[in-house]
Amino acid sequence: MAIEVSPLPLPASADPSKFKDFGREVKGVNPGELTDQEFETIRDLLYKHDTLLFRDVTLTPEQQYRLTKLFDPKSESYGHGNNKTGSEKKSILHPDLKTIPRQPQVQLIGNGTVYNHEGLAEAMLKHPSHTTFHKTRVSEIDEANGITRFYRWHIDAALYDLSPPKVTTLYGIHVPHGPRQKVRYDDGTGDELEVPLGTTAFVSGKTMFDILPDELKSVAVRTRVKYAPHPYVWMAPARAMSTGLGIESEGRELPWDELPPWEESRIKILPMTWKNPVTGNLHFQVHPCGVCELLIDPLPEGAKREGALFPDGAHLKDLKEVRELLYKMQRPAIAPPLVYPHDWRERDLVLFHNRGVLHSVVGAFTKEQVRAFHQCNLAASDDPAGPTPEDVKKYA
Ligand SMILES: [Fe+2]
Repeated sequence: MAIEVSPLPLPASADPSKFKDFGREVKGVNPGELTDQEFETIRDLLYKHDTLLFRDVTLTPEQQYRLTKLFDPKSESYGHGNNKTGSEKKSILHPDLKTIPRQPQVQLIGNGTVYNHEGLAEAMLKHPSHTTFHKTRVSEIDEANGITRFYRWHIDAALYDLSPPKVTTLYGIHVPHGPRQKVRYDDGTGDELEVPLGTTAFVSGKTMFDILPDELKSVAVRTRVKYAPHPYVWMAPARAMSTGLGIESEGRELPWDELPPWEESRIKILPMTWKNPVTGNLHFQVHPCGVCELLIDPLPEGAKREGALFPDGAHLKDLKEVRELLYKMQRPAIAPPLVYPHDWRERDLVLFHNRGVLHSVVGAFTKEQVRAFHQCNLAASDDPAGPTPEDVKKYA
C-alpha cells in the first residue's frame, strides 16, 4: 500500500494561508514497523510539514521508542535524562512524568488514575494546570464555564547538559470526551481561541520567524540564547504570563547557588533560529521560560545600519529586558489564527518536529476524566544548527 498524505483538518479559527505546509495526516503505513524506505519518506515529511498524524495506531512502548530513535540513531536517553536524582525532584516537570518501567524513555502522561498499565500497578496522573503555574488564574466560576489557558509554550528539552530532541512522539491511549473549552489570553488583547477539551496546541517556529518585521529578523539571525542551569528547577518558584509564553519578571527564580550542582560547560547556549535540515528554512526556536541571557552579534559587514536594532551587538543580561524582547518576537505567532489545536482521538499518534514547532498543554480536566498518553523524545546526539553565514547576510 502506498503512503498517502493529506492536510490536517484545520479549525475555523485558523488562517489556512499560514498552514499550507504545516501538518499532514499520513495513511498507508504502520508507524510501529517502518521499513527503511518508509522511514526515509516519513522523515522527509516530518521536516517538511513539522507535525504528522497517524490515526488508529497500535503501538507498544518498545515500538514507540524505536520509532523515535530512528530520527537520531545515536540518541539513547529520554530528553530530560533517564535518571532522576533527588535534587531534580524540585523541578516543575517532576509531577507530570511517570516512566514506563521496561522502556524508561517512554513516559506515561495524562490525568486521573490509571491501573495495571504497562507494568504500573497504579499511576496517579495530573494534567498540568495553569492555576499552579501562571501568576494570575481564571476564576473558578469562569473555569466551570469552560474558560481555560495555554499552560506553557515550550520545546521538549532539558536545556541543560542535554541537546534538544529532534522529534517527539505522542500517542493517545485514553482520550476523555467533554465540552470544548475556550482559551483566554488575558493579556489585554481580547484574544480567545475555542479548543477541543485537552487539546495539544502547536505553532510553527518557521511562521514565528517569517512574520517578524525585518529589524527583528535581523536580531533573530544574530542572536544566541543562554539558558539557566537546571532551568526547570531555577524557574520553579517563578510564575508565568497569562499566555503561557514565558515568565513574569518578579525576581522569584531560584538563585544559582541554590540550584543542584552545575557546571559552566554544560550550560546551553543555542541559536535563536534553528535550521531545518531538509528544507533549509529557519525556525524561531526559543523556550522562553528557561532563558536567562541573549548574546547578539553585531551586524555583518555591508549590512544596512539604518533602522537596525543592536547594530554593534549586545549582551543582554537583565531578565526583564531579555523577556520583553523575546515576548515581542514570539507573541505574534501564538495569535489565534496561527495555532493548530489538535483534536485528539483514541489511538492517534502525533509526531512533531520538536526543533521546528512550539507546543503547549491546554485546558483542565476533572479528576474523573481519565487521560493516558505515551510520550517519547530522546536527548539528541548534537545541538541544533543555527543560520548559515548566507542566512545571516540575507536577513541581517
Ligand atoms: Fe511537551
